Amino acid sequence: MPAWKELLALDRGRMLQALAEFPEQIERALGLACRIPNGLQGFKNAVVLGMGGSAIAGDILARFSTIPVVTVRDYEIPSWVNAETFLIAISYSGETEETLSAFREGIRRTRKAVALTTGGLLAALCEEEEIPWVPVPPGFQPRAAIAFLLFPLLKCFARFGYLRGNPDAVPDALRRLRDSCLPEKNENSAQTLAQTLFEKVPVVYGAGITSPVAYRWKTQINENAKQPAYWAELPELCHNEIVGYELAGKVFSQGMVVFLRTSFDHPRVQKRVEILKGVLSRRGLPFLEVFGEGDSPLEQALWLLYLGDWVSFYLALLNGVDPTPVQPIQELKRRLKEI
Ligand code: F6R
Repeated sequence: MPAWKELLALDRGRMLQALAEFPEQIERALGLACRIPNGLQGFKNAVVLGMGGSAIAGDILARFSTIPVVTVRDYEIPSWVNAETFLIAISYSGETEETLSAFREGIRRTRKAVALTTGGLLAALCEEEEIPWVPVPPGFQPRAAIAFLLFPLLKCFARFGYLRGNPDAVPDALRRLRDSCLPEKNENSAQTLAQTLFEKVPVVYGAGITSPVAYRWKTQINENAKQPAYWAELPELCHNEIVGYELAGKVFSQGMVVFLRTSFDHPRVQKRVEILKGVLSRRGLPFLEVFGEGDSPLEQALWLLYLGDWVSFYLALLNGVDPTPVQPIQELKRRLKEI
C-alpha cells in the first residue's frame, strides 16, 4: 500500500480541503440561488456559456433540466438565441475570453441573462449592463468550485419548476461518500481505484446522466493527476469506438475502460454494457465498473462525479504531483493575452 500520509505533502495547493468540504460548499451554493431574480422566469430554453471547469456545470444542468439547455464552449452563440433564451455565463475568474465574447454577443439578443463569477471583466460587464450576477467565493481552482457554479443554477431551475430532481438532498447523500474517501481511513475505495488507474490511460464511459460525469472524470484526471485520459458515451460508442478495440491490444496496452453506472441506466444501455464487457475481454482491454449511490438520478450522478474528483486527487499523489496547479492552461492564456 502506498504511504498515503507522506504523499499528502504533495498537496501544496490544498486540493484535499476543497474536496473534503464539497457537501458544505453545496449547502452554501444552494443559498446563492436567491441572487438569480424570479423576474427572469418565462424563458423557453437556456444557453450556458463557459469553458473547462466552469462549463461542466452547464452540461450537468442540461441533463436534469426539463427545458432545453445547451452548453456553448465558444466565442460565438448559436443563431437561434433570442429574447426567450435564458443566457447564463459561467466563468470562475471572470476573465475567460471565449465566455466574455459570447456573453457580449448574447446580451444583445436577450435581456434574460445572469452570470456566475468571482469578479473580473465578467462582473464588470454585468454591472455596466445591469445584469444580475452570482458572486462565487474566490480562492479555488475553477474546477474545484463546481459546487458554487452548479448548485445556484440547479436550485434556481428547481424553483422555476424546470428541474428533475431535488438539489437540496445532494449534500447529505455526498457526506457519506466524503467520509469514506478521507485519507484517514485505511485504504479507501477512491485510493484503490486510483491505484488501478495508475500508469494507465483511463477511458471513461458514461450514458445519459453520467455522460457529463464521464467527461468530468476525464478532465479531472487530466488537470489534477496531469495524466492523459479520454471519455465516450453510450450508446453512441457502440457505433464507432467499439471498432477501434480491434487493435487495442497492440497499440493501446495502457488503456483501461471505466464504466460509470447507475441503477437508472436505460435497460438497453445495461445490455450494451454487458456485451461491451465481453468484447473488451476478448480484445485484451481491461475494464472496471463503478456504481453511483443515492436515491435519485441526480444523487447518483453527483455521487459518481464526487468519487471521480477523489480518484483524480489520489492519482495525482501517486503520480508525484501537486493536484492544484494547471501550468499549461495558464501559460496558454498568458501567451494569448500577449497577442
Ligand atoms: C482550472 C480549470 C479550467 C478553467 C478554464 C476556464 O481549474 O478547470 O478548465 O475552468 O480555463 O476558466 P474560468 O473557469 O475562470 O472561466
